[in-house]
Amino acid sequence: MKAIEVKNLSKIYKGNIMAVDDISFDVDEGIIFGFLGPNGAGKSSTIKILVTLTKATEGTAHVFDVDVTKESSKIREMIGYVPQDISADGTLTGYENLLLSAKLYDIPRGKREQRIEDILEIMGLTQRSNSLVATYSGGMVRRLEIGQAMLHRPRLLFLDEPTIGLDPAGRKLVWEHIQKLNTDDKTTIFLTTHYMEEAEALCDRIGIIDRGKISIIDSPDALKEMVGVGTVTVVLDLGDHKKNGEQYLSSLLKGLIVSLSSLSDEKWRFTVQNAPQHAPKIIQTLTDHDIIVKDLEVKSPTLEDAFLKFTGTKLEEDASKNEWKSLKGRRRTFKRLT
Ligand SMILES: Nc1ncnc2c1ncn2[C@@H]1O[C@H](COP(=O)(O)OP(=O)(O)O)[C@@H](O)[C@H]1O
Ligand SMILES: [Mg+2]
Repeated sequence: MKAIEVKNLSKIYKGNIMAVDDISFDVDEGIIFGFLGPNGAGKSSTIKILVTLTKATEGTAHVFDVDVTKESSKIREMIGYVPQDISADGTLTGYENLLLSAKLYDIPRGKREQRIEDILEIMGLTQRSNSLVATYSGGMVRRLEIGQAMLHRPRLLFLDEPTIGLDPAGRKLVWEHIQKLNTDDKTTIFLTTHYMEEAEALCDRIGIIDRGKISIIDSPDALKEMVGVGTVTVVLDLGDHKKNGEQYLSSLLKGLIVSLSSLSDEKWRFTVQNAPQHAPKIIQTLTDHDIIVKDLEVKSPTLEDAFLKFTGTKLEEDASKNEWKSLKGRRRTFKRLT
């Protein structure tokens, strides 16, 4: 059974703002699916339709075969949702936040205590369960929120930008917990992110979304393979051929490389189809011609390259521009709650 099935989904906001533009995709049960795209791409809008918080303008969406527009209460029993902005209450302790959610989710009185304790344990928050959430680090708040969304043991968990604004250590810890939920509890996870490393670290499949449209969906490895080229960067002593280095190297490596560029006097970068496989042949050819290879770095294509190929824009540049804005947004929400 498919966890999610979306067909020709569009969302147009007031003022004719096309947030989601005729997207179709599905997500198999049991996987971690990542929706990767820059700010404003339509990620949150898509999630909000799937979790029944907003209605699509066109198209259909099913979660475990249930129509999101027709049976929203059935959907809400099956899913957990952590919104992009901070939702935990800073004036309450971690335990109290969980208790509130347990009541909201109608977890029977007799089972609440145990379930909350389990979740605190799973999310690594037992030690701090009686501290006010306002004193938590960003990563702890996020783990608490994921815990709140997991109390009723949903089959499918939606995480909207789970690590936005977290430092690398906090981010890593959240990743570990997400992975644990997926492997131990078999929870299907749908997450959005504008962090390339996050998609790479967590996701079995990635959908790249940009300006409301999905450009491609595949596994991280397949996406990188489609890019094809990687790089081989070398520091060379060209001896007598220093002066006409570019010409000399081009003719020597014809057929082995796609292109080359000079990074400094001795440093060269070759663009290479399947870099790891071709690198040894390149080095062999160079040394056969008495060129001394002083340094070598081989890089396979990255997800960043794939993103560039499929959207024509660089995600990281775009993301850093918006990072501060998102952080401020989260802080503001947090303040309002505390
Ligand atoms: N409630 C809303 N009303 C009007 N426009 C909106 C609303 N929510 C989002 N948008 C717009 O829709 C587009 C997609 O937004 P969103 O789904 O939040 O993208 P993402 O989560 O990928 O950053 C953006 O241009 C955004 O400004
Ligand atoms: Mg968003």
